[in-house]
Amino acid sequence: MYIYKAGVVGAGAMGAEIAQTISFSGLPVVLKDVDQARVDNGLETIRKIYRRRVDRGKMTAEELEQKMALVTGSTTYEPFRDVDLAIEAVPEQMPLKLRIFSDLDQATPEGAILASNTSSLSISALGAQTKRPHKVVGLHFFYPAHIMKLVEVIPGLETSEETTGDATMFAESLRKLPIRVNECPGFLVNRILMPYLNEAAFCVQEGLATPKQIDEAITAFGLPMGPFILVDSLGFDVCRDVVNVLTDAYGDRMQPAALWERIAAKGRFGAKSGAGFYLYGDRAGQEDTELQEILRELRGSAKPHGAFSVNRVILPMINEAIRCLEEQVCTAADVDLAVIAGLGFPPSKEGLLHYADELGLDVVLQELTQFSQALGSRFWPSPLLKRKVAAKHLGKKVKRGFFEYTS
Ligand SMILES: NC(=O)c1ccc[n+]([C@@H]2O[C@H](COP(=O)([O-])OP(=O)(O)OC[C@H]3O[C@@H](n4cnc5c(N)ncnc54)[C@H](O)[C@@H]3O)[C@@H](O)[C@H]2O)c1
Repeated sequence: MYIYKAGVVGAGAMGAEIAQTISFSGLPVVLKDVDQARVDNGLETIRKIYRRRVDRGKMTAEELEQKMALVTGSTTYEPFRDVDLAIEAVPEQMPLKLRIFSDLDQATPEGAILASNTSSLSISALGAQTKRPHKVVGLHFFYPAHIMKLVEVIPGLETSEETTGDATMFAESLRKLPIRVNECPGFLVNRILMPYLNEAAFCVQEGLATPKQIDEAITAFGLPMGPFILVDSLGFDVCRDVVNVLTDAYGDRMQPAALWERIAAKGRFGAKSGAGFYLYGDRAGQEDTELQEILRELRGSAKPHGAFSVNRVILPMINEAIRCLEEQVCTAADVDLAVIAGLGFPPSKEGLLHYADELGLDVVLQELTQFSQALGSRFWPSPLLKRKVAAKHLGKKVKRGFFEYTS
């Protein structure tokens, strides 16, 4: 199915970026929000992205105006009457999203694809709200969508193969890298990201290292930024929506470290609120006595046990990725593509599962087992990892692990 015109509902951080990406590919797009001021804000965000391209000499002022002419703002669904695909990007609240899907079901042509940019909510539930669940699909872009290449394409229980294929081709036409992620809570990237972020918080809570030391260790490993800078820039309130869904779905192994809520209780939601795991604005670089006090209370008289290691935060990610393989959420190759394109995992390590193969799957199993004995069930090794080791698929050293190697 060819998409001649698209619509985006919600002109906030994601909606505006998605509409820009669509217009950049040469397609007309309508951007809707609840009032004109928010629509104008969204249009201004799009213009700014183009203006930066003009400033860098990547586009002329005339081309900017041609791209902007493809974007129409609206406060009603009237211009959605002839779209072939609509993407919902309103806040992460199920009742609101359900209402939007009902509205879109009424407002768009019967054959149009209805997509959601939700980070964690059920695509199947959104589909069930419409008379066309076979046409409802997740299209999960990453922030900032005009730069990040990865798009998770998520079919719900009733999404047709045709719709999944059309959504994938649409993402490709935007010059993105779509991967198919069969529906599960958190989809792929957020699901494997959470155990990593959470483990980093446990390490700080236990006194093994400061946020700065961990962030530095992770950038030395090759990621573009450490876990605490990442959470502070995403905003703890945004992360919390996803954390709640993951905890509800997966139970103990996703149970957040107490440190998160203790920091949030002080109104520290990240860079935008002036403080998170770090201090910002006038207080940037100052001694963080508030965080030290929170940590003192949490630790009590407990002494740090062991030392921080990068594997402590990377292995839970690997373990969760293997659980995704077990559940046939995606392929091993897509896990590696997703972590490189979506999380900036160092391309030189070829992705998370190639890294596991390089470490040796027996080593991964042994370390996870030791961590689970010392720290509890969130490190419990996945059954597929045990089967791989039992079958002597130990990774690169035997030329067979999650991938096969010729040399
Ligand atoms: N921000 C991120 O990093 C990120 C990344 C990936 C996915 N997401 C997902 O994208 C979605 C949007 O997130 P965001 O960060 O852009 O939120 P946001 O709060 O920045 O923007 C949401 C916009 O939706 C508008 N809106 C609310 N009700 C509406 C309605 N009835 N009709 C039209 N517009 C309406 C709001 O006015 C607001 O402008 C969420 O589902 C979120 O989980 C966010």
